[in-house]
Amino acid sequence: RRAGDALKRFPLINVQGIPLMSTIAANWKSVSEFSPDPSDLLIATYPKAGTTWAQEIVDLLLHNGDAEMCKRAPTAVRIPFLEIFSPPPIPSGLELLKEMKPPRVIKTHMPIQLVPKGFWDNKCKVIYVARNAKDNVVSYFYFDQMNLTHPEPGSWDGYIQKFMKGQLSWGSWYDHVKGYWRERKERNILYLLYEDMKENPVREIKKIRQYLGVLVSDDVIERIVQLTSFKTMKDNPMTNYSFIPKFLFDQSVSPFMRKGEVGDWVHHFTPAQSQVFDEDYAKQMKDVDIPFRFRI
Ligand code: A3P
Repeated sequence: RRAGDALKRFPLINVQGIPLMSTIAANWKSVSEFSPDPSDLLIATYPKAGTTWAQEIVDLLLHNGDAEMCKRAPTAVRIPFLEIFSPPPIPSGLELLKEMKPPRVIKTHMPIQLVPKGFWDNKCKVIYVARNAKDNVVSYFYFDQMNLTHPEPGSWDGYIQKFMKGQLSWGSWYDHVKGYWRERKERNILYLLYEDMKENPVREIKKIRQYLGVLVSDDVIERIVQLTSFKTMKDNPMTNYSFIPKFLFDQSVSPFMRKGEVGDWVHHFTPAQSQVFDEDYAKQMKDVDIPFRFRI
């Protein structure tokens, strides 16, 4: 079966100024009305910032590093993706959540202003992971090639333009990372950086342990570091998205677990593209001081 036989890539529709896949836009009301339990935990990210990695770390922390337990189902089944409405077997977040009892871990890519109000009213814990813009856009470019539900990425040069203008699915990276950053203290959001996680996973996983308030020994933390290494997660059928068939995720185009590095952007940006990007970045990020690193 060819991809085109099964589905068309979904176009983007504006919801409160944010471009979202048409399937999400069509179900927007039910997503925004989702009412979490105060014990539910939200993992929020801009796409390709390290969501799956954070999901695995959290699931392992909540199960005291029990690897077999965390292979009970694919990531997307264990930790529902709140707003997703894609063709089966991609599970719909709201459908899964109906069947699951709190406390649940829930994934979203929504910018902070579109996170259902119930998460804030109920003071749910929220973990946000941000990744430097250049690696993030490279990763998204490859993902949009292989994820056949997303709009066609087009050329790399055009893709960078769309990223800078906030025209990709889930909107502007700049607004996304800034939105959660500004609210992190007020709303008790644990704000993590992908580069910090790569540099010192023990330190970052201990931050998550502390935030979740779970009793997990330092030995188990060491084990979780191993279980959530890029290599281990790439080989783990429960984390590498191999359960999604080729007509939806064509991993022969680009694997979901692609590289998992900091600084891979240097192999993709030309010096000219990098300069244009940096100038625009300075303007868009001048009003915040998030300690992003483009290399470690
Ligand atoms: P690359 O495309 O740069 O390799 P998300 O889960 O938000 O979709 O993010 C996917 C990105 O995180 C991909 O980046 C993927 O390889 C990377 N990633 C996934 N698991 C990882 C891990 N355990 N360690 C480091 N990077 C990981």
